[in-house]
Amino acid sequence: MAAQVLNGVEVADHIKQRVAARVSELGIKPGLAAVLVGDDPASKVYVGSKVKTCEALGLHSEKHELPAETTTEELLALVDRLNRDAAIDGILVQMPLPKQIDSRRILEAVDPAKDVDGFHAVNVGKLVQGRDALVACTPAGVIELLDYYKIPIAGAHAVVVGRSDIVGKPMSLLLLHRHATVTICHSKTKDLAAITRQADIVIAAIGRTAMITGDHIREGAVVVDVGMNDATSEEEITRIFAEPERTKRLEVLAKRGRTLVGDVEPRTVVEKASWLTPVPGGVGPLTIAMLMQNTLRAAEMRRGL
Ligand code: GUN
Repeated sequence: MAAQVLNGVEVADHIKQRVAARVSELGIKPGLAAVLVGDDPASKVYVGSKVKTCEALGLHSEKHELPAETTTEELLALVDRLNRDAAIDGILVQMPLPKQIDSRRILEAVDPAKDVDGFHAVNVGKLVQGRDALVACTPAGVIELLDYYKIPIAGAHAVVVGRSDIVGKPMSLLLLHRHATVTICHSKTKDLAAITRQADIVIAAIGRTAMITGDHIREGAVVVDVGMNDATSEEEITRIFAEPERTKRLEVLAKRGRTLVGDVEPRTVVEKASWLTPVPGGVGPLTIAMLMQNTLRAAEMRRGL
């Protein structure tokens, strides 16, 4: 039996409606400042859709675009100004930053109360301890997705593939706090497939195109694909997708020279998994929805609500 679809667009809409309703009920206007340094095209798209979503939900938003040659000191000055700006509840500095900038210093300069990305050491520390904190949007969105589809987490063996600060580590902690048995795998893990095959839930967050195949998945497992990669060749697309998706993707490739794919190979995984997220339309939309929720939450906390 082919896997059922975990529809991230549907869950994201549900979360965004909840946020918009709460914003209008409270009669406040939470404010998000998005900071973009340089001209990475993907980052521009992400920041653009974050700002647009704010507008749609009744939040205040502002975009700060700085040139690629911005220094750490200049960026620190902007962060400091935003920390003190009463109209701003959330500050998001789009990653990755140009290499002359000390990213860690920037992230640590953001007021933890406005850290809607959950990247500050104070929020990470609180997450480790299971205390109330602003939590990284993508992993928080994955939990919302699993809950929406009533996928049991407590007692499940969850295998997280990837150990990044943005996804793998916070994801593992969130699953642990929900009483999963958690295994973290990464690029140095020996016999990855032997471990992922023991999983009830697999979270793929490695950043390698279609690396998780049917051989990695136990019959009936739930598979969440956090990957966002570009496939740029016909051979790749033919391997990754079965028909009719293959034809669609080849058309996208012909038109744009690339198509967005995850860390999971749907052609083979769909035959094994009970549930699977598509890419696009899985985890991606949830990241933005959770950013809206975090901005609302930061606004409520700052106002003592
Ligand atoms: N770059 C990739 N993902 C993210 C994210 O969730 N937040 C920020 N600020 N930058 C990112």
